[in-house]
Amino acid sequence: MSPFFRKLALTGHITSSVGWLGAVSGFLALAVAGLTSKDTEMVRTAYFAMEFTAYFVIVPLSLASPVTGIVQSLGTTWGLFRHYWVMIKFLITIPATILLLVHMQPIGHLARVVAETTLASGTLTGLRIRLVADAGAALMVLLVATTLSVYKPWGMTPYGRRKQQRGSSQSSYPDTNGETGVGTKRGLIPGIPLPMKMFGIIVLILGLLFIVLHLSRGGLGGH
Ligand code: HEM
Repeated sequence: MSPFFRKLALTGHITSSVGWLGAVSGFLALAVAGLTSKDTEMVRTAYFAMEFTAYFVIVPLSLASPVTGIVQSLGTTWGLFRHYWVMIKFLITIPATILLLVHMQPIGHLARVVAETTLASGTLTGLRIRLVADAGAALMVLLVATTLSVYKPWGMTPYGRRKQQRGSSQSSYPDTNGETGVGTKRGLIPGIPLPMKMFGIIVLILGLLFIVLHLSRGGLGGH
């Protein structure tokens, strides 16, 4: 990637990732208010606001963060599986996004219930507690991801070291900041141009998310 495009992509990645963390914090506050407040108007407003925040802020950011992260990974020598900090972020972020999409149905259900009735205390308590727990867990995952991004611990994976050894005979390989762009002859699938690889992986992940969302609609329809 050119320095300009790399900085642009990094700006998008940091903005979407840390924005996602901020939006989940707000969502958690609303989930706690919805669960604990005695004021019925407050409870209604909290679940309406949660649905809007989830659909229009959290879901877009939860897709933008991994997509821009993958672009950064494959477009620089950080790679997706070469450094523990990137690999772990990838492995915790994708399930977090999938779980989020799966849990969109209960959020919509709660918003519909408060639109039609006043939520008496004790109604749907299990579901309301689950939303608090899920938002808390998502916040933990995102805090771990942010911390990993800043400290970048544990160095390279065995796969990354093998790649580095092979790559060092062809070009210099900066381990510390991933400055050098990855050429078409390196990476997971040698020979395929980088934009094609990025496009392929992103389409694959979005396809997977779509399938999960579709299946979850059937599975959680009763909520
Ligand atoms: C699929 C998931 C993700 C992947 C593959 C990924 C990958 C990457 C890569 C390769 C970089 C280095 C970019 C560069 O220096 O050019 C980066 C930076 C960063 N990522 Fe992620 N990321 C992911 C998710 C996240 C999440 C969920 C967060 C936080 C909530 C996050 C926060 C950050 C931050 C703050 C940086 C900037 C670090 C710095 O410049 O020192 N990332 N990410």
